[in-house]
Amino acid sequence: MRTFVNTEDYRREASRRLPRIAFDYLDPGAEDEITCRMNREQLAAIQFQPRVLRGTSLGEIDLSVETFGKASRLPLVIGPTGFAGLFWPNADLGLADCAAAAGIPFVLSTASTMSIEDVARRSNPAGSRWFQLYLLKDQAATAAMLQRAWDADYEAIVLTVDTPCAGKREASIRGGARLPLHLDARKILDFARHPLWTIQMLLNGEPHLANFPYSRKTPFIMEEHLKRGIGWDDMAWLRKNWDRPLIVKGIQCVEDALLARDMGADAIVVSNHGGRQLDGAQSPMRILAEIVRAVGSTVKVMIDSGFRRGSEAVKALAMGAHCVWLGRATLYGIAARGPAGAADVLKIFEDEMRRAMTLLGANKIKELDGSLIKGA
Ligand SMILES: Cc1cc2nc3c(=O)[nH]c(=O)nc-3n(C[C@H](O)[C@H](O)[C@H](O)COP(=O)(O)O)c2cc1C
Repeated sequence: MRTFVNTEDYRREASRRLPRIAFDYLDPGAEDEITCRMNREQLAAIQFQPRVLRGTSLGEIDLSVETFGKASRLPLVIGPTGFAGLFWPNADLGLADCAAAAGIPFVLSTASTMSIEDVARRSNPAGSRWFQLYLLKDQAATAAMLQRAWDADYEAIVLTVDTPCAGKREASIRGGARLPLHLDARKILDFARHPLWTIQMLLNGEPHLANFPYSRKTPFIMEEHLKRGIGWDDMAWLRKNWDRPLIVKGIQCVEDALLARDMGADAIVVSNHGGRQLDGAQSPMRILAEIVRAVGSTVKVMIDSGFRRGSEAVKALAMGAHCVWLGRATLYGIAARGPAGAADVLKIFEDEMRRAMTLLGANKIKELDGSLIKGA
């Protein structure tokens, strides 16, 4: 078997195993992918300034953090990704279980291919599950979905706020990636070139949006039901109707971070959606320190977009992030080798974080601060 030593190895294998239509949905960003590149470049531009002789030892680094009164073994979260069943059957369940085994939270997307209840019922009960909400045009339908997440014991709601419309992801537009998959000659050829994936899908059935009524004849078209013009009044509505932690995902400036805090958010995720929405949007790492300074300890500041290595996560933590969310990284893992691949990606991140902290001279997360990095 091939040796996978980093996330990029998993990415390459995912691109081999998946048909084009699925990889083109997973991997590319919007338009010219400028933001995708900036996400990576900004992480690379930040340099470590290690301290020595601090008694750090690889096996004894403590990576745990506490979030909403619950301990996480690692400062990571598996973030929400829709249509994950395109990459591996029951991928939502696989990712939830990987997160539980690693001792970190898992966020289920509104656009998941397993339902809120199925994931809750079938995944490891020890895991922390959060639910990512896209508001629907019909407020009663949104309220019903919120109630389902509540009844299924999801511990937090994640309101994604950076999608007033879909980003222009050109590879997906060309390839026609949507559910249900309307077969045409190009897709049939694509599937024929990827027989293992195709057999897996034939055996398990075509993935569909599992949180909504489904019928092959009248499929649920997400775009027709999402409420796009959402505003801070929607956030106020959500705050009133959800009594557990509320996380706002997709904050990109200090002003909105302060508004989210004032409207009652318990945490924010500084994110540009992994470069999949507004191409040209700055890297969250450019604004992270400023946001942390502005909101202080009143809300937890989390981050995502572009993280492919544990050492990069350590840079974000040193700049004041509470934890780092992973989008594509664990998807590459599950797309390449199923749940075992996603679990291995988390192990790789953990190992790289341990090494970075050992070499940096920090024994625990609390010892990471701005004095250990340059160029932020
Ligand atoms: C295939 C895919 C599907 C996604 N679906 C959702 C979604 O349904 N809801 C959401 O809030 N974010 C979604 N995201 C964005 C991720 O949660 C996250 O913000 C982004 O992937 C982080 O960047 P990274 O992939 O570089 O780690 C998706 C990302 C990918 C790659």
